[in-house]
Order: sequence, then structure tokens, then C-alpha cells
Amino acid sequence: MSKDQYAVIGNPIAHSKSPKIHHLFAQQTQQSLTYQAMFSERDKFASIVKKFVQQGGKGLNITIPFKEQAYQLVDDKTERATYAQAVNTIKVMPNAQLLGDNTDGVGLVNDLTGNYGLNLNQSRILLIGAGGASKGVLLPLLQQQPSQLVIANRTQSKAQALAKKFADKGNITACGLDQLTTIDQPFDLIINATSLSLQSNTIDFPSQLIDSNSWCYDMFYSKQATAFMQWGQINHAKQTLDGLGMLVEQAAESFYLWRNIKPETKIVLSTLRKNL
Ligand code: ATR
Repeated sequence: MSKDQYAVIGNPIAHSKSPKIHHLFAQQTQQSLTYQAMFSERDKFASIVKKFVQQGGKGLNITIPFKEQAYQLVDDKTERATYAQAVNTIKVMPNAQLLGDNTDGVGLVNDLTGNYGLNLNQSRILLIGAGGASKGVLLPLLQQQPSQLVIANRTQSKAQALAKKFADKGNITACGLDQLTTIDQPFDLIINATSLSLQSNTIDFPSQLIDSNSWCYDMFYSKQATAFMQWGQINHAKQTLDGLGMLVEQAAESFYLWRNIKPETKIVLSTLRKNL
């Protein structure tokens, strides 16, 4: 019998770590499957998915820039995908219908709470950024029942729109980046969901947002500490973390959705870290 086929689709895709992660999961859990990286032109996404399904493909990961297109394409969606308005995981159901899920947010939460033991219940969280990355994680974060979640963005109106959308899920307020100086109580957790770490060598958010109990989490990762992590370190944050753990955890949730088995993530994370 041929192996079950999985893939990640993106543009660019050559440097995706997903094939490596899923191969390690499959090996560890003794699942017989293939997982490949697939490039798509921007206007070919739907036809590539269709072909993959016709050829018997069982599941897909979707990465930049196709998560919104995937959201439009699927037949059915989980609640967290609906709130994220983006799909990073597709499961091909037995009737060939496509179920869309979004495992990014639960990946972030599992990294923080599972791998690092951080309790988010009744915590104060600052989420910086209001693009796709933020939208993807808001529901799982609010489900941890923080006492307050502030979403801050350069373009304040985008933060306000998100705060409004998620208002019934928890205590969420919005502000502009330029208003962060007016907040005088430090946060338990500050998450960077902007693309600033990719663009800048230095980040200079107001220092009173941090004290020695604050955790700083950058959704991006790199071999060296990201600019956001450096900002956290300079301001004596208790922990500064990058998003490699989130990447592995979101993959583990996708794997679970497809295979109904949870891989052990810590060993995979340390293998990836060594090879960064
Ligand atoms: P994605 O969907 O991948 O998150 P995006 O929609 O372009 O990408 O969002 C990027 C985020 O980084 C946004 O919150 C953006 O702020 P704006 O909404 O004001 O554009 C933020 N961002 C990007 N460059 C920034 C900069 N130089 N300073 C502050 N925020 C920045």
C-alpha cells in the first residue's frame, strides 16, 4: 500500500522546516507517511490543492502567503480557524471535503504553558502587532483567561478592529504603539507579532512595559537572539524566547489532527535548534 501523503504549500518554500519536523514526528511515532514542500505561484494555489487531493493527498500545511486563500477554499472550518480567518492546516476528510484548522495559536500557547510552564490564567498580556500573525493567536490566548490582553499596533485602527472582533472572548483592549508610554504597569507576557524582528537590528519599545517578572516572546526565530529578544534582555525580562517552539508545537497539532497521535516535541525542538 502506498504511504499517506502530506505537504506544506508556500511561496517561498525552499527553507521551510516543516518537512524536517514532520519526518521526525513520523519516525518517532512510527507513522508511515510522506511529507514534501510544494511551491505555488500566487494564482495557482487552489489548483495545486485540488490536484494534491485528487492524487490522494491526506493533509496540507499552508504557509505565507496562502493562509487566507486556504481559509476561503476549505469546505468546513474549526472555531479557531474561523476566528483567525486563516487556515494553516487542511485535513482531507474521507468524503474528500476539506477541513481547515489553524494550529498557530495553540502552538504558541502549548510552547509557553507546556514547554516553559508559564501560567497565563489571570496574567496580563501585551500583544504587539495586528496582522495575520496576531489574528491567528488571539482566540487560544484569550481561552487561557488572562486578566487583560492589550493589543498594540502601529496602525491603531487595526488593533481596535481586532479588539472589537474578540471582545466576547475576554478582556481585550487596543492602543497604538505610540500610546505604550502611557501604560505604567509592566506585563507578565509581551509577545511580538510584528515583522520588526525581520526588519530591524534594534527595537525600542518603552522600558516600563517590562520588569524582572516579565516574559518576552518573539513569534519569529533566528540563530541569534532577535531584536525583540534583545530588547527584553536589555530591560531584564525574566525570560526571552523565540518562536521556534511555536513552530514545532503548531506542527505537532497538525500532526495530531491528521494522525490522531501526539508526537513528543521537546526532542524535535532541540534537534532543530542545533541545526539552526
Ligand atoms: P502578517 O499578516 O504576516 O502578520 P502584516 O499584515 O504585514 O503581516 O503585519 C505585520 C505587522 O507588523 C503589523 O502589525 C504591522 O503594523 P501595521 O499594521 O501598522 O502595518 C507591523 N509592522 C510592520 N513593520 C513595522 C514597523 N516598522 N514598525 C511597527 N510595526 C510594524
